[in-house]
Amino acid sequence: VIDRNAIALGAGALGRADNGEPSTASVDLAVAMLTSGFPVVDTSNVYTNGRSERALGAAIRSLGGLPPGVEVVSKSDPDPATGRYDGERVRRSLDESLTRLGVERLPLYHLHDPHGMDARTALAPGGAVDALVALRAEGVVGSIGVATGPLSELGAFYDLGVFDAILTHNRYTLADRAADALIRQADADGARVFNAAPFGGGLLADSDRIRRTYAYRPAEPALLHWVGRVLALCRRAGVPIAALALNFAAGHPGVDHVVVGIASRARLDELGQLVDLDIPPSLLDEVAALGDPPSRETD
Ligand SMILES: NC(=O)c1ccc[n+]([C@@H]2O[C@H](COP(=O)([O-])OP(=O)(O)OC[C@H]3O[C@@H](n4cnc5c(N)ncnc54)[C@H](OP(=O)(O)O)[C@@H]3O)[C@@H](O)[C@H]2O)c1
Repeated sequence: VIDRNAIALGAGALGRADNGEPSTASVDLAVAMLTSGFPVVDTSNVYTNGRSERALGAAIRSLGGLPPGVEVVSKSDPDPATGRYDGERVRRSLDESLTRLGVERLPLYHLHDPHGMDARTALAPGGAVDALVALRAEGVVGSIGVATGPLSELGAFYDLGVFDAILTHNRYTLADRAADALIRQADADGARVFNAAPFGGGLLADSDRIRRTYAYRPAEPALLHWVGRVLALCRRAGVPIAALALNFAAGHPGVDHVVVGIASRARLDELGQLVDLDIPPSLLDEVAALGDPPSRETD
């Protein structure tokens, strides 16, 4: 059983099937996410070309405001036309997000995927991180985080010492433990830790063995083989592999929230059931006896 407060809903695929404006189905899903009893919804400026935020904004309006206790967290992204990702762009990115969501401030705002950006330069006047620090001081955002995959990048930004939160993805899961040390460090500092993609994008939730990707790339045969062995143990124990994966990702003592991608109402309903399942200790022992998974993400 996982505490519902430890789950954040990922809106990365919200509106993915739509063109232009979010469909009624996407807005309905956004309403369901905001009223699900899970306390955080994670989105970003760039997700589904802004439809994720627009669907959440329409849902917030239809609900007459955010339900009490629910946080919508968003992220800055580079200018889609020019690739510019400096302080000015961060402020514009936030303005776009606030307008789409129809809110005046955000409780937490992440620097999203600062690929190729030098952390120290970003902290200097006019840089992306400098702007985030200023936005927090101005109160437009309550706290700031850095959200990215490569651990060297996440670590370099986190080590600037200005962030209140980190979001790592695909690197502390049933099949990958690479983020363990950084999660421990951030937790020891009192930072809020988001562990996103507990299913590795789907592979670790798929009882039918259709998925062949991990962390959005083709999975190596050794990993598919290892996951197949875990799946066989889960089947014998009568436990969905998704429940095991979710418990593993949430089970790190330093993790505050696991961010689960929700692309449909069915998945949201399924998640509500997965969190309530007990994992038999014997299954955990059997999986541990398989040894470490073949390491996937080296950074
Ligand atoms: N840099 C960043 O900041 C960053 C990066 C990555 C992720 N994130 C955040 O984390 C969230 C989660 O990431 P994610 O969605 O990539 O990873 P995830 O949570 O590991 O995977 C979610 C996907 O797993 C699939 N799935 C769930 N149950 C399944 C089942 N029983 N059988 C087969 N497939 C199943 C679903 O696909 P279908 O519903 O399509 O079948 C679902 O979209 C994102 O939405 C985003 O908010 C942030």
